[in-house]
Amino acid sequence: MSDIKDPSLAEQGVSRIEWALKEMPVIQGLMQGFVNDQPLAGIRISGCLHITTETANLARTLKAAGAEVVLCASNPLSTQDDVAAALVSKYQIPVYAVRGESTEVYYQHIQAALDHRPVITMDDGADLVSELHQHRTELISDMIGGTEETTTGVIRLRAMAKDKALKYPVIAVNDAMTKHLFDNRYGTGQSALDGIIRATNILLAGKTFTVVGYGWCGRGIAMRAKGHGSHVIVCEVDPLRALEASMDGYRVMPIMEAARQSDFMITVTGDKHVIDKAHMQVMQDGCVLANAGHFNVEINIPALESLSTAKTRPRASVEEYTLGDGCVIRLLAEGRLVNLAAAEGHPSAVMDMSFANQVLCATYMVNTHGKLDNVVHNVPTEIDQEIAQLKLQAMHIHIDQLTNEQQGYLSSWQEGT
Ligand SMILES: NC(=O)c1ccc[n+]([C@@H]2O[C@H](COP(=O)([O-])OP(=O)(O)OC[C@H]3O[C@@H](n4cnc5c(N)ncnc54)[C@H](O)[C@@H]3O)[C@@H](O)[C@H]2O)c1
Repeated sequence: MSDIKDPSLAEQGVSRIEWALKEMPVIQGLMQGFVNDQPLAGIRISGCLHITTETANLARTLKAAGAEVVLCASNPLSTQDDVAAALVSKYQIPVYAVRGESTEVYYQHIQAALDHRPVITMDDGADLVSELHQHRTELISDMIGGTEETTTGVIRLRAMAKDKALKYPVIAVNDAMTKHLFDNRYGTGQSALDGIIRATNILLAGKTFTVVGYGWCGRGIAMRAKGHGSHVIVCEVDPLRALEASMDGYRVMPIMEAARQSDFMITVTGDKHVIDKAHMQVMQDGCVLANAGHFNVEINIPALESLSTAKTRPRASVEEYTLGDGCVIRLLAEGRLVNLAAAEGHPSAVMDMSFANQVLCATYMVNTHGKLDNVVHNVPTEIDQEIAQLKLQAMHIHIDQLTNEQQGYLSSWQEGT
């Protein structure tokens, strides 16, 4: 009832999971509160998530709430095998995930998670929902709902809803303020840089560092690269975001121009073939390419393969492609999420809020069973506010409250200067 790499890694996994929990006070509070109150008693949940220490603490919290949880990986390279081992042997949570699994095994693991007959799906990228709707339609009638963790998954689900193909309600956890303002920006900002540094150990100061996509994740990556002393370039297709990047102090230009002068290029768009063959043909010798967007389609890797005459692996997460003219292009983590494949993913303190949203949205789904339409729903504002309050409390930060006079002023229109 599990498929993991090596059960003997469990002890190390437990130690790291407990370490992460210390940085997750909101999750800790929810877990403690569920000891008596069992809002998810008997609810079967299948989660297709990155198997990290923080996800382990999410699964423990769901279990503490009474849920029967199984997990599979949401990316073939993001699984932490020691965490998978700990989940299975210490916390009795079945896991189907092995770091480096083939695409075929990845989908077999999703099927195994669906064999659990979930009534709630918890996705990071919408592969579980997509597989369930395409190949396991017998499960649909029992479904209560689903939750979705990331931007790309929300985009896929909204497309499903638009086609009237979505057969149960899903909550866009990504779109909660307490998720994307912190996880996408500060989480990806720190962990993507961490992944690039762990993979290459190349100095960032003084280098030209291009960020492609200035959304929530791109803003964070650009900010942290600037902090390392890099000269940051931003490439965008949205005029507003391009303008924002320019006024935030970055150089903004088309990707073809950026490709000619970059030492590092990182994609974070959720889009396909953003770095394409024509860009690779003008890159400088030694340019490092990485992706922090959800799928490994942002860099056109088949094009890179076709341009190259040789490929070597000088370090664990680096592949060096030699092109016909002798120039070398370095690809990190096979073009998969560099922060999860070459580092440990987001710091626990931001996942604390993302996963508190997951837990509270699962309980909300159960409480509103049968009342929500089969579309993508926003996280209720009360949940977002509650998580922000709990996080502030845990950080010992106190804030002011509106006076009665101010409340009146802010809800009226008569009073001017
Ligand atoms: N690495 C992680 O841990 C992590 C965390 C959160 C989200 N994500 C993923 O990162 C991606 C981006 O998420 P986000 O929340 O920043 O999304 P977002 O929608 O806020 O930003 C994406 C930006 O990319 C731009 N873009 C799209 N196509 C482009 C192109 N061809 N060239 C230049 N710019 C282009 C868009 O205009 C937009 O501004 C998604 O795939 C998301 O799922 C990854």
